[in-house]
Amino acid sequence: MARWLMGASPATTQELWTAVDRYICDRLLPADAVLDAALAASDAAGLAPIATSPNQGKLLELLARVHGAQRILELGTLGAYSTIWLARALPPGGQLVTLEADPHNAEVARANIAAAGLAEVVQLRLGPALQTLPELAAEGTPFDLIFIDADKQNDASYLEWSLKLSRPGSLIIADNVVGGGAIIDPDAQNPWGEDGGVGGVRRFYDLLGAEPRLQATAIQTVGDKGHDGFAIALVTD
Ligand code: SAH
Ligand code: DHB
Ligand code: MG
Repeated sequence: MARWLMGASPATTQELWTAVDRYICDRLLPADAVLDAALAASDAAGLAPIATSPNQGKLLELLARVHGAQRILELGTLGAYSTIWLARALPPGGQLVTLEADPHNAEVARANIAAAGLAEVVQLRLGPALQTLPELAAEGTPFDLIFIDADKQNDASYLEWSLKLSRPGSLIIADNVVGGGAIIDPDAQNPWGEDGGVGGVRRFYDLLGAEPRLQATAIQTVGDKGHDGFAIALVTD
């Protein structure tokens, strides 16, 4: 164990990852009352503590800024923590649509979005994403950036819909593509809870690798949320 790390001697690898995340966040991310309040309200309402970590949220914001995204789509709102990070990257007039199936999560998220001053920028659509995505496709306007972070068993379908909702140059990002190594464990089942079917994530990789319109990679991450990863794909044509 890395005992040299600021005098700390974490007992487990997870404690080490958590301590390093704290080190990073303490130095790079200023205290943020809005985001803290969103997390506290989510906790108080009993939402699962599975939002992106602060440094991951900042990564999403930076990617959206670098990309110049003006229209963002998010699948899986929870309490709108990642939503707030992404929405902050938008230029004036930008829009974020976020999809959430659970009415209780959606209610908490709407309050957090309003408290963040983003009610005009963020539109939350309640319902299973596979019902809402065809409606968005029918509406016709593509998205510049799509963040897939809902029930993992449908990740391959979400990627297919994301292609329909994209234009050349759109960026597609997916959370939870490693699951502590579950993707390569033949005995693994639901590393991300009851919605977590790892088979869906494997089909997502198969499609990502086979789809000629996508240039993609995935990166493993460790930190406060354990060992997981992000996939990132650019729609090329
Ligand atoms: N993006 C959030 C975390 C999302 S957790 C953040 O980082 O802050 C996953 C969310 O997906 C949960 O709120 C869950 O209710 C929602 N979800 C699960 N199945 C869904 C479905 N079929 N359609 C839309 N949302 C779904
Ligand atoms: C879990 C983590 C996530 O980031 C998510 O989107 C869903 C579930 C989990 O650790 O269970
Ligand atoms: Mg996630």
